[in-house]
Amino acid sequence: MTERPRPILDMNRFHGAAATEGLLARRQANAGALSVLFYREPLELVSARGAWVEAADGRRYLDFYNNVPSVGHCHPRVVAAIAEQAGRLAINSRYLSEIVETYAERLKATLPPALSAVALACSGSEANDLALRVAMAATGGTGVIVTEAAYHGNTWATTEVSPSALRTGRLGPHVRTVPAPGAFGADPGPGFAAAVAEAAAELRRAGHAPAAFLCDSIFSSDGVHADPPGFLAAAVDAARQAGALWIADEVQPGFARTGDAFWGFARHGGTPDIVTMGKPIGNGYPMAAMAARPELLEPFAASVGYFNTFGGNPAAAAAGLAVLDVIAEEGLQQNARRQGARLKAGLAALAGRGGRIAAVRGAGLFLGVAFADRPGRPAPALVGAVIEGLKARGVLAGAAGLRGGSLKLRPPLGLTEGEADLFLGALAETLDEAG
Ligand SMILES: Cc1ncc(COP(=O)(O)O)c(C=O)c1O
Repeated sequence: MTERPRPILDMNRFHGAAATEGLLARRQANAGALSVLFYREPLELVSARGAWVEAADGRRYLDFYNNVPSVGHCHPRVVAAIAEQAGRLAINSRYLSEIVETYAERLKATLPPALSAVALACSGSEANDLALRVAMAATGGTGVIVTEAAYHGNTWATTEVSPSALRTGRLGPHVRTVPAPGAFGADPGPGFAAAVAEAAAELRRAGHAPAAFLCDSIFSSDGVHADPPGFLAAAVDAARQAGALWIADEVQPGFARTGDAFWGFARHGGTPDIVTMGKPIGNGYPMAAMAARPELLEPFAASVGYFNTFGGNPAAAAAGLAVLDVIAEEGLQQNARRQGARLKAGLAALAGRGGRIAAVRGAGLFLGVAFADRPGRPAPALVGAVIEGLKARGVLAGAAGLRGGSLKLRPPLGLTEGEADLFLGALAETLDEAG
């Protein structure tokens, strides 16, 4: 067993008292116990464009947190595509529609050819839920292996495989966790693979034949673990030898964010059995997808009817097509690589100035900055203070990792040099202030 993670929704969270008036009071009255808000002082946002969001008090913030508006907040091309299609036809997926098939074909062109069956859905949770059920039907097993601080969604089935979602609950009896790759040093491949093999053996001993090794290809909620490229391959081999399918959860690293490749799994080589996608796929339009080898869908489809009212509607296809066009035409993968390298170099320079940055990890514009107050001891309180310090300087960022000891950075892919430098300046000042 691995350590129970700090719930991801408790990081960088508003913990203040109940409000008696204003928008916060209305939110608390409307959402009740399910209200989760960021920051010591919640932020009311009114508009956004590019890498910037604007608050109700007129203050602008550079957005280094949100991985949904990946091609830029309210990108005019995406907004126009959604509006045009919504004004023409937006209907459930049991009709033929040219734009939906065009989108499926364009999406498939970015993936390995073996993954030729695509199901469209509305959220990453739905895509992972479906992927798990497909994997279980295809393998006849029920066992699932995930990392110790993984987050894969909010449905019943995906919560059971999301250690970082649980406050008091338990993982499903069919789930085993492995430490994040960072626990295995600079060359995590062999140790991580051995942990996956051991988890698979444990599942089998407990009567749960392994069905899936489900992992976020950049391990974002585990604190961002990207390097060295290729380290994941041995773990995938170990899972497959145990009879499990490889489900690559691309909800976080997909759609060019890592700069090196369009998909996070592609940095590690090999073809997943199933790929799930969400967040940036529609730049804010609620959509998601699962791509799989077509033969894997048959046992599932033979036993369960699957239909998704909103998933794959024509307006979603329009959003998805516009996102693919913008990534290609604006050279966003290349920009992610360029600006990511600039940020990494700047962060390494800051790390060199004092002892508090313990590691800078990630690829392209998906970066994790680990903080420690003593060598080897994560400093979640410091990460919380840095997030508030950045906010005070007009920059939004978030936390990740088993104990919340890493800063998680995911600015829009069109980030400019000036914006990258602005972030680095704000972080330097924040760290100076933190002493
Ligand atoms: C890796 C990963 N998978 C799946 C999900 C679930 O996606 P959604 O919130 O769209 O249901 C998330 C959401 O944060 C995620 O980070």
